[in-house]
Formats: sequence, C-alpha cells, structure tokens
Amino acid sequence: MTTPSDSFAATRDRSDELAAEVAAHPDRFRVLTGERPTGRLHLGHYFATIRERVRLQALGVDLWVILADYQVITDRDSLGAVRENVHSAVLDYAAAGIDMTQATIFTHSAVPALNQLMLPFLSLVTEAELHRNPTVKTELAASGRALSGLLLTYPVHQAADILFCKGNLVPVGKDQLPHLELTRVIARRFNERYGHVFPEPQALLTSTPEIPGLDGRKMSKSYGNAISLSMTADETATLIRRTPTDSTRTITFDPESRPGVSALLTTAALCLGSDEQTLADKLGDSGSGALKKLATEAVNDYFAPHRARREELAANPDFASDILRAGNHRANEFAERTLGEVRTAMGTLY
Ligand code: TRP
Repeated sequence: MTTPSDSFAATRDRSDELAAEVAAHPDRFRVLTGERPTGRLHLGHYFATIRERVRLQALGVDLWVILADYQVITDRDSLGAVRENVHSAVLDYAAAGIDMTQATIFTHSAVPALNQLMLPFLSLVTEAELHRNPTVKTELAASGRALSGLLLTYPVHQAADILFCKGNLVPVGKDQLPHLELTRVIARRFNERYGHVFPEPQALLTSTPEIPGLDGRKMSKSYGNAISLSMTADETATLIRRTPTDSTRTITFDPESRPGVSALLTTAALCLGSDEQTLADKLGDSGSGALKKLATEAVNDYFAPHRARREELAANPDFASDILRAGNHRANEFAERTLGEVRTAMGTLY
C-alpha cells in the first residue's frame, strides 16, 4: 500500500492535470464532499472548501455535499446542537453561492442504503489497515479518549459516502487523503471480487493552506479561535480584539514565535486577496492595534454580502429543511439504486 507521503506527492503532481480535465469536461465529474456538523462553519471552511465547491459547480460539475452527522460521534458522546449546525451550514452554502437547485445536500442519518454499504465495505479492509490511518491516529490523540469502533472505521463509512453516489472527484485537504486512498482501495477490491460497480474517485487537492485560528492553533470552534461565517460584524470585532498578540510594535509574519500576529495577517490577507508579507510591510511599526483594525475591517467587508444574504435566507424558517428534504430524497433514490447493483453483484437478491 502507498504511504501517506507518496499519496500526497502523487496527488499534488496529478492535481494540475486533473483541474484541466475538470475545466474541459465538467459533465464527466460528480463531486462528493462534505463536513462534520460539529459547530458553525467558519472562515477556515470558507476559504479551504466552500469557495472551491462554488467554483467547481460554476464550471458545471454535479455537486453533492454530505453533512456527516454520524461522524460527529466518532470522538465524542453527544451530537450537540446537530440540527442547528446542519441548518446553519445549509444557510452558509446558499449564501456562499452554491446553486441549491442543482446541488444535492444531504445527511448521513437520512440515507439508510448508504449506511448499509458499510457492511460489505468493512469486509474489504483489514484491521491493520484501519489502525495505520494517520488522520485517525491524530484525531484519536486529540480526543484524549479511548478509540471508539466508529472512529476506527469511519474512513470506511466515508468511502460509502463517496461511492454510493459514484462520486469520482473529491476536493480534499491533505488530512483527508488517507481516507480517499482507502476509498480507492475499497472500490478496487469490490470490483475485483464481485464485478465492476464503483469508480475509483480522484482527489483534487485544494490549494489554500490550512488557515490558523486566531491564536495560531488549528481553527476550531472548541478553541474559541474561529470566526464563524454567521457572526455579526460586532462579534467578529470582539473576537479579533481578544486575540492574544504581543507588545512588539513592528508587525512581522512569524507563525512560530508570533502566532496571534501571524494568524491575523493570514486572515486579513485572505480577505484582501493580498499576502502576509505585503500587509506586514505596510503596517510597519504601527502595532497590533492597527493590525487588529485592519483584520476586522477586512473580514467584515469581505463577508458583509454573505452575511446579508444569510440573514435574508434565514428569515424563511423552512428554507434549510426544504433543501434537506429534497437532497435526502435524491440521495435515497441514488443510494437504493447503487445498493441494488451491489446486491446483484454479490448475488444477494432473493
Ligand atoms: N471527514 C470529513 C471532515 O472531517 C467530512 C466528510 C464526511 C467527507 N464524509 C466525506 C469529506 C466524504 C469528503 C468526502 O471534514
């Protein structure tokens, strides 16, 4: 089996070629992507994935987005405010410009035939393969808990997310590559054992690097260092004001020793379409107060239209549930068709 670094290098090398293929023949691609609804979507989601989905859909690919609600409980006991988080994500997708009349937005828990693929798929992987997954290892360590059966096996579940709808293009960050590699292995082994049913999906590496939270750590709601898309301008200003910086007046980009200052520079640079060094040079000796002002204005200006559209959509209390009802309906139809093919291939038709 390929190592994670082989797979990263190969994917990176292939990504330009793949991007050209997608641009030339968007109708050949179905994109399946998604996230765990553990909280509100934040700037990290927006710049790393949501913007990319809007771009791919505008090219003409068929876009499917899963809100992976069962994945919420891989590393915790409670689903939290899952309904609220799912609805909130739908509002953000629409506000960000995803065409909701074309996209299929759905949840794990509403698609039984998708979940049923987990059983034959589990038979295609070994325990050792599951234990080797570096992303699962990192998530296990971060959880500070015992390894749940679901955390160990969720990459197989994720393969079902991608394969049930015959997704063949998955835009991913680096941490998701091991899961995509496993998905390809599962598709290949299923096809070899039972006859061709599944495509081997390709990973499209997203070019935006991971966006740090305001304290320089990974952006996460649980660290309180994330600017949510749904925050007001005032809430954004308060959060940025509280970012720990230092008393050195000269602004420099140095993520190691100045995590707060550097995270603010990255945040502002993304919103202004600039880069950290240019902004640092421009700010010179003006201190962290000026940096915070710049970052606050950059974020609030950039997201003002998004937030206005979001608010308008939220005024209709049925908006998100209507989208999800339609998406779940379409996902169920597709999942049942695929499960039918799987039953035929496996000879389990009675
Ligand atoms: N694991 C992904 C994340 O944490 C979410 C996800 C679930 C996903 N199923 C997927 C991503 C299928 C891509 C394809 O963000």
